[in-house]
Amino acid sequence: RIEESLRPGRLAEYIGQPVMKERLGIYLESARRRHEALDHVLIFGPPGLGKTTLANVIAAEMGTNLRQTSGPVLERAGDLAAILTNLEPGDVLFIDEIHRLSPVVEEVLYPAMEDYRIDIIIGEGPAARSIQLDLPRFTLVGATTRAGLLTSPLRDRFGIVERLEFYGIDDLARIVARSAGILDIPAEDDGAGEIARRSRGTPRIANRLLRRVRDFAQVRADGRITGAVAASALEMMQVDQRGFDTMDRRLLQVLIEHFGGGPVGVESLSASLSEERGTLEDVIEPYLIQEGYLVRTARGRMATSRAWRHFGLNPPEAPAGDL
Ligand code: ADE
Repeated sequence: RIEESLRPGRLAEYIGQPVMKERLGIYLESARRRHEALDHVLIFGPPGLGKTTLANVIAAEMGTNLRQTSGPVLERAGDLAAILTNLEPGDVLFIDEIHRLSPVVEEVLYPAMEDYRIDIIIGEGPAARSIQLDLPRFTLVGATTRAGLLTSPLRDRFGIVERLEFYGIDDLARIVARSAGILDIPAEDDGAGEIARRSRGTPRIANRLLRRVRDFAQVRADGRITGAVAASALEMMQVDQRGFDTMDRRLLQVLIEHFGGGPVGVESLSASLSEERGTLEDVIEPYLIQEGYLVRTARGRMATSRAWRHFGLNPPEAPAGDL
């Protein structure tokens, strides 16, 4: 897949997240020197910031295999046991959406993470017996959109916990320029910058917009992504100056127009938008919150004065969200 080739393979190629990168670099280097498996890693943060990429990078830096699965795919304890018992020493097991593991599967994971051991029940009823199997030393990399979704016994078993932050515009512009190079797309600095500014702090979005802007540049211009070409293309895609897409604007507009700017409970907002609560919480809201357009309070969501002004509206005297 093309997406695959845009992923940085090694830590040195990974752009952005400098604090996380420095720490992880030290943990990787020391594990390598001791010839040990890296401690288990929990990565959390909004979608598209590079959780899967990091799992790949960790395996590459350790020179081991990556096995990949996800919380909802592991339905029965045996599904996870089958994967664990097939690992080779030092392998990285990546479990995406780890907050969606069922309790019985999670139970299998505890001794596996802690003692590299699983307990398997054979037989049924009074004849049932438990046998223990030893596992090779491995590294579990778990990814989730929010650390708060994890049970604490699971969270506590990760030795390394890293949160991915939204990327700044400069880092995103470097990512766009790198991707344009790989895909052989002629992009000027202004063009890459325009895409970066409108990518919601998210490399996955930046790479997607880059491909769409290339389409526009080839059909409506001479193929070069200049600042002006990128701006018209993104305008046509209804990605605005702040990088908000149709869904971002709908959320803020419903909040302002139907609920007077809030506070409104997430369930009411979800019903009004016909959008799943989880999507609002994990995908749409985090960026609006980080940019200061939305606040979550105990009484519900509120639009800030910045949100009112974004739509050319005058905020109420003391917009609830600014408290
Ligand atoms: N492509 C997507 N995310 C990236 C990152 N963080 N660094 C480099 N290239 C990327």
